[in-house]
Amino acid sequence: MVEFTLPKNSVVKKGKIYKAAQGATNIRLVEVYRWDPDSGENPRIDSYEIDMDKCGPMVLDAILKIKNEIDSSLTFRRSCREGVCGSCAMNINGKNTLACTKAISDYSGTIKIFPLPHMSVVKDLVADMSHFFEQYASIKPWLTTESEAPDAERLQSKEERAKLDGLYECVLCACCSTSCPSYWWNSDKYLGPAILLQAYRWLADSRDENDKERLDELDESFKLYRCHTIMNCTDTCPKGLNPAKAIAEIKKLLVERDHHL
Ligand code: SF4
Ligand code: SF4
Ligand code: FES
Repeated sequence: MVEFTLPKNSVVKKGKIYKAAQGATNIRLVEVYRWDPDSGENPRIDSYEIDMDKCGPMVLDAILKIKNEIDSSLTFRRSCREGVCGSCAMNINGKNTLACTKAISDYSGTIKIFPLPHMSVVKDLVADMSHFFEQYASIKPWLTTESEAPDAERLQSKEERAKLDGLYECVLCACCSTSCPSYWWNSDKYLGPAILLQAYRWLADSRDENDKERLDELDESFKLYRCHTIMNCTDTCPKGLNPAKAIAEIKKLLVERDHHL
């Protein structure tokens, strides 16, 4: 039987325990993955007792409280604290989500926080997003046109604009891509649900005039067809979007294109 063992320096150890101040009666335990590449030490799980009577309602509030009051070395990304910047994406109790839009009361018992799965970790909860954003740049996420620029804006009808609903709201948090098994194993070549949803966003835009090139670019066994419709992406999206459907729409456009060739 094959036996898998992790390299010694990647085994996650038990970390420190930070007790709540004496007299706290409303305590939640928050466990956080910690790893500092400069320390030369293994990753560890630190445990923090959070006094909920002195903490805001969201998971991000608990993380900020830890950083501000308990352990300033905790490293994570956040900016908007209202689900629009996409930077606080992490894995909370086994599911990828945005820490700022998830209420602590949505969970019972201990809250376990890890970085987005299957990404290289820069430090603590910060995943390396370089490859993800290189893939994003590769789909040319901007309006491309051939025709002469009009004097005013390029207009859309209400119906044309409505086709972007469910697409433009994506905040590029990568929760979906990092929950997709196909992306875990083939992220070097497979674009993954987030980037494919973005690719479809430009295909669906009536003002863009380069559908042919965009489809030609995507029509490749690894970039697109690694999606096996497992649906983890749609299940996890904290914005309630449906990347699996966007991928299916791209596949449909390719079938229609080939039909007309
Ligand atoms: S539906 Fe496709 S993109 Fe979404 S999780 Fe499954 S394989 Fe990945
Ligand atoms: S589709 Fe949803 S989960 Fe995926 S990157 Fe966009 S907002 Fe995040
Ligand atoms: S802090 Fe911006 S999405 Fe959470």
